Amino acid sequence: MVLQTRILPFGADSIAEAARLILDGQVVAVPTETVYGLAADATNAEAVAGIYAAKGRPSFNPLIIHVLSLDAAERIGEFGDGARRLAKRHWPGPLTVVVPRREDAAIASLATAGLQTIGIRVPNHPAMQALLQAVDRPLAAPSANASGSISPTRAEHVLKSLGGRIPLIIDGGQTERGLESTIVAATDGLLRLLRPGPIEIDAELASGAQIEAPGQLASHYAPSKPLRLRATGAAQDEFLIGFGAIGGDANLSAGGNLTEAAANLFDLLHHADASAKPRIAVAPIPNEGLGFAINDRLRRAATR
Ligand code: TXA
Ligand code: MG
Repeated sequence: MVLQTRILPFGADSIAEAARLILDGQVVAVPTETVYGLAADATNAEAVAGIYAAKGRPSFNPLIIHVLSLDAAERIGEFGDGARRLAKRHWPGPLTVVVPRREDAAIASLATAGLQTIGIRVPNHPAMQALLQAVDRPLAAPSANASGSISPTRAEHVLKSLGGRIPLIIDGGQTERGLESTIVAATDGLLRLLRPGPIEIDAELASGAQIEAPGQLASHYAPSKPLRLRATGAAQDEFLIGFGAIGGDANLSAGGNLTEAAANLFDLLHHADASAKPRIAVAPIPNEGLGFAINDRLRRAATR
């Protein structure tokens, strides 16, 4: 089915329209502080199925459930001390905690892919918060891109990837963080980093904590072209994404600032993907601080 996809600027009218669609069981793209999310009513299994359908995502992949507060989170997940401490420190913000799912949680099991655990996040973006307020229920929302392509940091990215498959995109401009949330599992008394992200959590994890590969396909972040890492220069047929002194065709951060680089990462990958050059190269990014999360995404983008 081909839908006409509207893009409306974030405001009271567009949120009211988005809420109407979501309560009708449809899916809507909405900005968060990390990337754009594809939101649906998490209590409605058919609505959640609509997310998988729009993304073309393998249905075994669990979705992050967005709520307005820790109180609301504790109605759907079992929080131990470690999880609660992390939530209090970082919510609202770009942190997802995976905790045991409460037996009485009013969440479609499809949203958690049938798992006994649930990934929960309290987002810090006025559009997502206004939408949560308006619908007054948890929203399941993966990144608003077709499965296997790059996460969207602008409304235009969503349109390119999901245009014709969803009725509405709320346009809130470029997302501030540009990287998906940090994911920490707190399911067995231990805290484990499942996905590095904007919040650097290492020091807060229990000693001996492992860094596990996220529950994602290795090629999750792949652009449509081959990508070469740690490039100090470009071949003729390469679009070079620079960093610091390595200028390239576009630069993640000329000043070598990793926060700026993270915010620009997916934007420049989209840009490189859309360029006339058949290959992409990326300058070396130091493996420290946010560079760790950036390199994680780049390695995935290079695995195809
Ligand atoms: O910043 C973000 O997290 C964005 C915005 C929209 O909130 N969302 C996002 O969702 O990145 P998505 O679906 O693209 O990535 C969610 C990741 C997936 O890799 C999924 O496997 C993992 O979270 N996840 C969700 N629930 C989980 C669970 N119960 N156990 C383990 N991993 C889980
Ligand atoms: Mg995603």
